[in-house]
Amino acid sequence: MEKSKIWLSSPHMGGNEQAYIKDAFDSNWVAPLGPNVNGFEQDIEKYLSQDVYVSALSSGTAALHLSLIMLGVGAGDEVICQSMTFSASANPIVYQGATPVFVDSEPDTWNLCPNALEDAIKDRIAKGKKPKAIIAVHLYGMPFKADEILEIANRYEIPVVEDSAEALGSTYKGKKCGTFGEFGVLSFNGNKIITTSGGGALVTKSKEKKDKAVFLSTQARDNAPHYQHSEIGYNYRMSNICAGIGRGQMEVLDAHIEKRRAMNSFYSGLFKSNDSVTVLTEPTSDYFSNHWLSAITISPDNDKSLTREDLRKALEVENIESRPLWKPMHMQPVFEKYPYYGGKVSEKLFEDGLCLPSGSNLTGNERDRIKEVITGLF
Ligand SMILES: Cc1ncc(COP(=O)(O)O)c(C=O)c1O
Repeated sequence: MEKSKIWLSSPHMGGNEQAYIKDAFDSNWVAPLGPNVNGFEQDIEKYLSQDVYVSALSSGTAALHLSLIMLGVGAGDEVICQSMTFSASANPIVYQGATPVFVDSEPDTWNLCPNALEDAIKDRIAKGKKPKAIIAVHLYGMPFKADEILEIANRYEIPVVEDSAEALGSTYKGKKCGTFGEFGVLSFNGNKIITTSGGGALVTKSKEKKDKAVFLSTQARDNAPHYQHSEIGYNYRMSNICAGIGRGQMEVLDAHIEKRRAMNSFYSGLFKSNDSVTVLTEPTSDYFSNHWLSAITISPDNDKSLTREDLRKALEVENIESRPLWKPMHMQPVFEKYPYYGGKVSEKLFEDGLCLPSGSNLTGNERDRIKEVITGLF
């Protein structure tokens, strides 16, 4: 009999989600607005504990798209984007008819490299076009080098869109990820640290910006008794049913982070005496990762050493899911024609890196199965 599947990251309900959904049905708020949407936004605002305003949307991608629209990114503009990321970070640049300019990672956090970022900005300015925005990502929950990135962005007066889709609950110097940029982006996709089945949120610094995001995400209806539109709108608002799931999930977010962090410690322990394996962990105490996914690199020292593909395949045989790290955007067929700045850090990470099962709902028995494969192989 085939062993049950161990997923990389699967939804983990807290218990109260269905009560919020029942409320929505009982009060007939089965629509993309209602008490759960408002409540979920307030829960996130409270959790981020900064002076921020949150709008709940249909996805993280929608939040990225709206942030570029609100920054006035349009045809012919250039937007810098971390190359090592999921395609959703970069796609909205192209939705707007703008050009993505990809930048390499640094080896400590695997995120945007400050040196390569500044090289890119200088060169694009020298070529006649100052980038309109910088999209920086907290990959796998690990905060990017926020002080350095923001210092450069401020010096060149370029706004930062902070892609915190994977980093709800992570902090840098005690401040929550999602609150650093001009705009912050969260995702509640099914595989994220908390989920609304599908959903996202835009974090803004003023009530006016939140109101604008809600306006744009509900088809940009002017204030009139009939349907009147002076701007192009989008159908990007979160449903009150999904927001109900989100409210239940917010109750268990911190508990889930603890469990994801315990998975990271589990892998650090397993690979402790293996010099060829590096587990992505915080470079200093300034960083606190939610460890959404635990990721490793395996650097073979000779032809006979194990590779990340050996481990991936050995796990697959046991019906355990693992996945190579994000393939950098500058290597993707759809994006390879766009400018790229940096060296080979992200390329090497892609070659050697693997994400391992990281869910907050993994059982002791599932951990034992993972451990057996890893200790058997190494
Ligand atoms: C880094 C990153 N950015 C953006 C997104 C897009 O979020 P969503 O799937 O909610 O559209 C995701 C996840 O899916 C992601 O991992």
